Amino acid sequence: MTREGFPDGFTFGAATASYQIEGAVGEGGRGPSIWDTFTHTPGAVADGATGDVACDHYHRFQTDLDLLAELGVDAYRFSIAWPRIQPAGVGRANQAGLDFYSRLVDGLLALGIRPFVTLYHWDLPQALEDKGGWLDRDTAFRFADYADLVARELGDRVADWATLNEPWCIAMLGYASGVHAPGRRGPEGGLRASHHLNLAHGLAVPALRASSAGRVGVVVNYHQFYPATDSPDDEAAVGRVDAIGNWIYTEPMLAGRYDPLTREVTRDVATWDFVADGDLARIQAPLDFLGLNYYAPAYLAASVGALEAPNPWPGAVGARWVAPRPPLTTMGWSVEPAGLTDLLVKVHARYGDLDLVVTENGSAFPDVVGADGTVHDPARVAYLRDHLEAVSAAIGRGVPVTGYYAWSLMDNFEWAFGFSQRFGLYRVDYATQVRTPKDSALWYQRFLSGI
Ligand code: FCB
Repeated sequence: MTREGFPDGFTFGAATASYQIEGAVGEGGRGPSIWDTFTHTPGAVADGATGDVACDHYHRFQTDLDLLAELGVDAYRFSIAWPRIQPAGVGRANQAGLDFYSRLVDGLLALGIRPFVTLYHWDLPQALEDKGGWLDRDTAFRFADYADLVARELGDRVADWATLNEPWCIAMLGYASGVHAPGRRGPEGGLRASHHLNLAHGLAVPALRASSAGRVGVVVNYHQFYPATDSPDDEAAVGRVDAIGNWIYTEPMLAGRYDPLTREVTRDVATWDFVADGDLARIQAPLDFLGLNYYAPAYLAASVGALEAPNPWPGAVGARWVAPRPPLTTMGWSVEPAGLTDLLVKVHARYGDLDLVVTENGSAFPDVVGADGTVHDPARVAYLRDHLEAVSAAIGRGVPVTGYYAWSLMDNFEWAFGFSQRFGLYRVDYATQVRTPKDSALWYQRFLSGI
């Protein structure tokens, strides 16, 4: 496996997200986000962990730029914390917030690393949640205003933009099952939030293009489902869950419609009155690429009845999840690189010649730190290598994949799992904030240097 085996111009990067690394939640004029509220709610997050400090990246971003330079990546995908730009989610920009990201972008460019900005990686200003959050249609319009403010400041320097990261997680984990912020529960809310996120995306695309020549896309986490057996019933179960877990985002974004199966599967839980005239045309804003995050596939079998509530699959009737096949990561996810090839091939077959970018891929394992501070993480090295092979296999089958971003540059706050899950190429000692390259970082560095 060498980088020479990839097409010219293929982008290799690493990814992070604001709330997972920044800390400094009360500094620089930042307002509270839904994740501040959620993490400070007893019982919501493992071990009572919060992102108050996280990797202290807000104060240490220069050090983290050094890590990126040391790795030798072409690009860095990070996200902007909306409440640093608009502390209450509305109105004029907080200059200190813009300045922070402007310095980060300049620091990247000085190192020859292309900035890839995600506008929304889950940290909604709490003030907007207080007005209904993603259940409120107005939030979509507020998001477009925020996109405009960021693009005016950074638009001349950002190479790639993603509007949203993983709308399924935002809507279904945040508003249907409630395991993520803001912790609301109910199937209708998951669908309503999904539509408002789709609309937010569609409104933000022209706002970005108005001030930036950068490429514009969105990042989704397609679930790569397989039927547990080749029985038609299991395949039908996959079709139904696909309709609510996957196509509910990219069909409106890329084809200007909701799949009839999405509406049919959810007809008992939502009337879809939240779709207004003209919405679908706005949502279908032309994109330069589609980002997809892939970790592991899932296997579905037909079953009788509905899933236990609350769950993140509104309307999923007659499907059950089959236990993943070992070996498992500490997240409980299987390791199946072929799933990434299959996913890329499937999405390409559905959407044609749109560039695809693997915007996240990585693994959490129980790292052991040696007496000399080294971290030998052979399972993560193998995961990284085998998933790069899987991308290369998709390219070999004619899929226009143009980039790969390892999740994550460094260990960080893993949402509901707190700090228990380590996905980093660099280990973070949270007591001292020392970053140490794991063997996987050294492997990626060698791979990128072409040795
Ligand atoms: C994805 C998220 C990312 C990270 C990985 C492990 O769902 O986008 O922030 O937590 O999972």
